Amino acid sequence: MNTYIEQNKDRFLNELFDFLRIPSVSADTKFQPDMLRAAEFVKERLLEAGLDKAEICPTAGHPIVYAEKIVDASLPTILVYGHYDVQPADPYELWDSPPFEPTIKVTKNHPDGAIFARGSCDDKGQIYMHVKAIEMMLAQGGLPCNVKIMFEGEEEVGSENLGVFVKANKEKLAADLILISDTSIIANDIPSVETGLRGLTYMEVAVTGPNRDLHSGVYGGAVANPVNVLCQMIASMHDADGKVTIKGFYDKVAELSQAERDDLESAPFDLSAFKKDLDIAEVSGEKGYTTRERASIRPTLDVNGIWGGYTGEGSKTVLPSKAFAKISMRLVPDQDWEEIADLFETHFKAIAPPTVKVEVTRHHGGQPYVTPTDSAGYKAAVLALEEAFGKKPVPTRGGGSIPIVALFEQELGLKSILLGFGLDSDALHSPNEHYGLFNFFKGIETIPLFFKHYAALMKK
Ligand code: BES
Ligand code: MN
Ligand code: MN
Repeated sequence: MNTYIEQNKDRFLNELFDFLRIPSVSADTKFQPDMLRAAEFVKERLLEAGLDKAEICPTAGHPIVYAEKIVDASLPTILVYGHYDVQPADPYELWDSPPFEPTIKVTKNHPDGAIFARGSCDDKGQIYMHVKAIEMMLAQGGLPCNVKIMFEGEEEVGSENLGVFVKANKEKLAADLILISDTSIIANDIPSVETGLRGLTYMEVAVTGPNRDLHSGVYGGAVANPVNVLCQMIASMHDADGKVTIKGFYDKVAELSQAERDDLESAPFDLSAFKKDLDIAEVSGEKGYTTRERASIRPTLDVNGIWGGYTGEGSKTVLPSKAFAKISMRLVPDQDWEEIADLFETHFKAIAPPTVKVEVTRHHGGQPYVTPTDSAGYKAAVLALEEAFGKKPVPTRGGGSIPIVALFEQELGLKSILLGFGLDSDALHSPNEHYGLFNFFKGIETIPLFFKHYAALMKK
């Protein structure tokens, strides 16, 4: 670990702990005052780190924190994006320690300890690495690039207001590249860079049968049960080969060449450890693709939640009037999330039997994204990781989504570099989310190296 980090390590952690104590849950209005507190907190820490301008930009939803330090107009400008909002911590009873009281514990993948708290990895711990990396660069001779910071409070709910902000502030956000730490590496001794993100189309469906809940003995067998019907409709959306049956779903999927597939497959992956970690006997998915491919370069359709009828204690004999489901589809290049939403809606209505009425609504979405590996930004990420980890990083394609990344490219013409330091096993969005101390400090060490290499490559 470098000396500046070594000397300031306890303070860095204490500050991050204060940040993690603020329950910045964007989805739930009851945390709105905490969202403002979290925005205020990062703004103050950015000013302390030495950024010139730090401001809270109001939106129709949660505010955006913006800051910048322009050292020299002739230097390249890096726009750092991340999010200070977190997923709801529910169900609280499944946490071993309270989600907003950060605690350090040792785990199998984190023998040096990990910080357990909601948002520790996704994404407060990772954006805080940037604040501290900038502090360190300014304390040690200055920034080799200009920097702009944009931390939003609505990533976990679809980034709609950030889209509005970006479109209205193109000049303010002008930069050469976007740098994001909100993804994973393969393992602490296997550095990697994600070179893609999946897109997302998120739908909700309602199926209505009879106009009221019925006695399942008096009517059962003679009237279609909307829960049964919904289950059949959902089941029919995959065929025996694990392919999605929506007409046109795969039309725009870019197939990778065998060489590209071999390249991605060469990154280490332990299938038996993967199964063991999840306590599953077998994996499943689209025929003809490996587990890793299924979760990165292939599109999917998944039910996120399904409900209807009686779900309370004990039993109640009822033939429900309504059934609901939230269904998401992860998308890959060159699928378009709105086109997929249309295809889904048409398909879902077409397969509904005449015994029910269906309603389809769409939630948020986002386009898939790929990083070009021949760009200066990607090369700088490789050099920085190699220098920090003492090992060349491998490219991977991520399965998750950061919907705003494609919009950055479309509206600002900028590519994003995904320099994330989490592990997939860090329980993002789950109870007991954590972030390795090693990962936090390694990130603070790597970010200045990225700035250094990027500045050098841009000079050439
Ligand atoms: N940081 C994640 C995305 C991620 C995680 C990418 C791990 C790669 C590896 C992000 O905060 C997230 O959770 N995105 C959501 C989408 C959003 C619209 C709710 C997702 O992927 O479900
Ligand atoms: Mn995130
Ligand atoms: Mn997330």
